[in-house]
Amino acid sequence: MTFELQHLVDELKIYRHGIQRHMSVFSHTSRGERLALYQLASILPPNARALEIGSHIGSSALFICAGLARVHGHLVCVDTWMNETMPDGAKDTFAEFQANTAPYRSMITQIRKMSGEITDADIGGPLDFAFIDGDHGEVAVREDFRRVAPWVKVGGYIAFHDLDPLFPGVSIVFGEALASGSWQIVRIVRSLAVLRRVS
Ligand SMILES: C[S@@+](CC[C@H](N)C(=O)[O-])C[C@H]1O[C@@H](n2cnc3c(N)ncnc32)[C@H](O)[C@@H]1O
Repeated sequence: MTFELQHLVDELKIYRHGIQRHMSVFSHTSRGERLALYQLASILPPNARALEIGSHIGSSALFICAGLARVHGHLVCVDTWMNETMPDGAKDTFAEFQANTAPYRSMITQIRKMSGEITDADIGGPLDFAFIDGDHGEVAVREDFRRVAPWVKVGGYIAFHDLDPLFPGVSIVFGEALASGSWQIVRIVRSLAVLRRVS
């Protein structure tokens, strides 16, 4: 499929699923990638539990929650909400996150801390899906993956964002996950790559 046709198909799906309204919240995550997050969340098992590391002002959380709403799921969002590593510099983004995600407030647990500090108690049980989109440095991504992977059920998913030459660490850790033999690629949409845990 050509890029133009794929874009058209994505736009039709975005409107058909009634998630166009969420596109007004700014994100570096593309429309097609946000559609893919919605699609993945909406096929998770009933009462699915998901985790997002790096929620920023809530755009990707909106799409994950829109999908999770179809399966009565729940999302744990982890962020300092101090705009770490973002190109526009340090600032408090928590109020903006809360305002943007208000439609799904009852489905979201907010954990305001560094991802390296999250514990079993923060997560609250096995995960069906984890989205890693915080600090994109190699050491940080490896630490996020190392911490999160054991929480994901066999058959569950991890998605990495920004597999892009700008962020080589993301691709390196993605490759390490594949090389472990415990994860298989199930979908790639632009710089979003989704792995399924097989063992
Ligand atoms: C690329 S943005 C996330 C974008 C969001 N997932 C979306 O698609 O709209 C990265 C976010 O991760 C947060 N962040 C960066 N390093 C972090 C860390 N070590 N622990 C927790 N949050 C972090 C930043 O504050 C920022 O809000």
